Amino acid sequence: MLERLKGKRLIIVGDSINRNQYESLVCLLYSAIPSSQADVYMKGRSRFFRAKQYNCSVEFYWSPFLVQLKPKQELGGRILRIDKLSDWERSCRGANIMLFNSGHWWLHRGSLKKWDLFQYKGKVVSEMEIQSAFGKAMKTWSRWIDRNVDMTITKVFFRSLAPTHHGKEWCYNQTQPIKDESYVAKLPNPIEEVIEKTIGRMRTPVRYLNITKLTQYRKDAHTSVYTTRQGKRLTAMQRRQPESYADCSHWCLPGVPDTWNILLYASLVMDILP
Ligand SMILES: *[C@@H]1O[C@H](CO)[C@@H](O)[C@H](O)[C@H]1NC(C)=O
Ligand SMILES: *[C@@H]1O[C@H](CO)[C@@H](O)[C@H](O)[C@H]1NC(C)=O
Ligand SMILES: *[C@@H]1O[C@H](CO)[C@@H](O)[C@H](O)[C@H]1NC(C)=O
Repeated sequence: MLERLKGKRLIIVGDSINRNQYESLVCLLYSAIPSSQADVYMKGRSRFFRAKQYNCSVEFYWSPFLVQLKPKQELGGRILRIDKLSDWERSCRGANIMLFNSGHWWLHRGSLKKWDLFQYKGKVVSEMEIQSAFGKAMKTWSRWIDRNVDMTITKVFFRSLAPTHHGKEWCYNQTQPIKDESYVAKLPNPIEEVIEKTIGRMRTPVRYLNITKLTQYRKDAHTSVYTTRQGKRLTAMQRRQPESYADCSHWCLPGVPDTWNILLYASLVMDILP
């Protein structure tokens, strides 16, 4: 992969699940070179990896909505601007490989919900169906890709949703994957549909990294109570309260995101070789 990334930039934009995939990719690449040849650093919520002798970089940009979230205004609340992309677009122009995801944060409710209002074409509204709002945001994203991406130097990927494991197939204490092949994760389908439709209508070919099915069986592969909160590992006390603390969204490494990256790699190889 390093050979193929020579002189190139691979950018990953999205939420913490995409950061999970970034970490996986960086671990895989880092282990293939002497550590003196690697540069790993962060700036704010962005993450960077450079392999010096390959002059390549892998970069992560935090943007769970892909569009802009404006902090609380003096009047009114936090505004999700579904017609304007967030800062990542300035940093990512010209990158050779782009990998996006979004979806999980649009479904947050209660205290996890990060917006109060939507802004669209100069109007601020409080109510909009999530599927419609997400569709408009994806349109904003796809328009940017179609206008700014030069297909001859850039390949664009969008990763499908990674299933979580709550309820009957709770991840806590699991040591075996789900072996019943008829098992289907209950996914927020409207979100998935919007992504697939948006990609289907674009001028730029976008590869859909469709990892949902292979991931849904791996209830045993989450970080569970060995997760971190605000950068700190759970205390022994917290680990004894898995109902409150088990993380059934993120993934252990080495683990499932490595497989997503192997598929990403396979996809790149298939493109480059005749
Ligand atoms: C290193 O890669 C960048 C693109 O990421 C390119 O602009 C630059 O010319 C490359 N430098 C060398 C010495 O190959
Ligand atoms: C989790 O597994 C441990 C070890 O097998 C067991 O002692 C414990 O009862 C299990 N807890 C739950 C909630 O299933
Ligand atoms: C993604 O993969 C699943 C399972 O293999 C399949 O049912 C679905 O049609 C795929 N979606 C797309 C858009 O290819």
